Amino acid sequence: MQQELARRRHWTLADIPWGQFDAAKVDPDIVKVVKAAAMVEHNGLDYARYLCSVFHDDPEFQAVAQDWAEEEVQHGKALAEWARLADPAFDFEACFKRFTDGYKIAVGAKDSIRGSRSGELVARCIVETGTSSYYGALMEASEEPVLKAICRNIAADEHRHYKLFYGHLGRYLERERIGRLRRLWVALGRLKESEDDELAYAFFAANAAADARYDRKRYGAAYSSRAFGYYRERHVQRGVAMALKAAGLTPNGRLNAWLTRLGCWLLARHSRKPAPVPA
Ligand SMILES: [Fe+2]
Ligand SMILES: [Fe+2]
Repeated sequence: MQQELARRRHWTLADIPWGQFDAAKVDPDIVKVVKAAAMVEHNGLDYARYLCSVFHDDPEFQAVAQDWAEEEVQHGKALAEWARLADPAFDFEACFKRFTDGYKIAVGAKDSIRGSRSGELVARCIVETGTSSYYGALMEASEEPVLKAICRNIAADEHRHYKLFYGHLGRYLERERIGRLRRLWVALGRLKESEDDELAYAFFAANAAADARYDRKRYGAAYSSRAFGYYRERHVQRGVAMALKAAGLTPNGRLNAWLTRLGCWLLARHSRKPAPVPA
């Protein structure tokens, strides 16, 4: 699978049509969430360190995790570069330092925090589900052509990452044989974690005034009230199908229809209007 990543030439920052940047089409709320996304993406190498530690005797997967992380870091660089065009005052390095000083990943963990390696891979699939649908939604919501091009590339990568982790999940399920209920439990747990610190703290680190104090609830709302508003039903439906598949359930059955309705309702409820960025 490592070859899978290497076979096609991966896009680079030089492939982005930076010259087409159109300041008149920049939405200030989108700039805020793009800055936050740049923090999380750019932190990919730390997550690879954690994965290499959990999969310490699996060099094939470790190599995949390393390549994967480099693509995530590139996502961070592209988003940061765009944010700098949209807001020349944006100091990515200072914001990223603030993010990594305050948000730590347990890079040395010997066992997955999901209870098994299969569980870890289910969680990775859920994250890639979230990112691929998010960048798809953001691409459609943004009118700015350069951001559209960046999001198109990133969304395609995230979908490929999902397939990559799903492939390794199949390999581990043969050994570990964790049940569907357990897979579903891990998937739901990872979904719930989206309310944890990572995104709220990234939004804080990227957007708050230098002397502001972090408050998870308020910065979480500032993030989600913007980000959730970009989703349309088709993004939710596709994301639900990918999540169900990772949990070992039928992707496009009645459960999907029900969860898509629930998902759309929840997203709409949390994004009626952008919450102010706390001072
Ligand atoms: Fe990414
Ligand atoms: Fe990804």
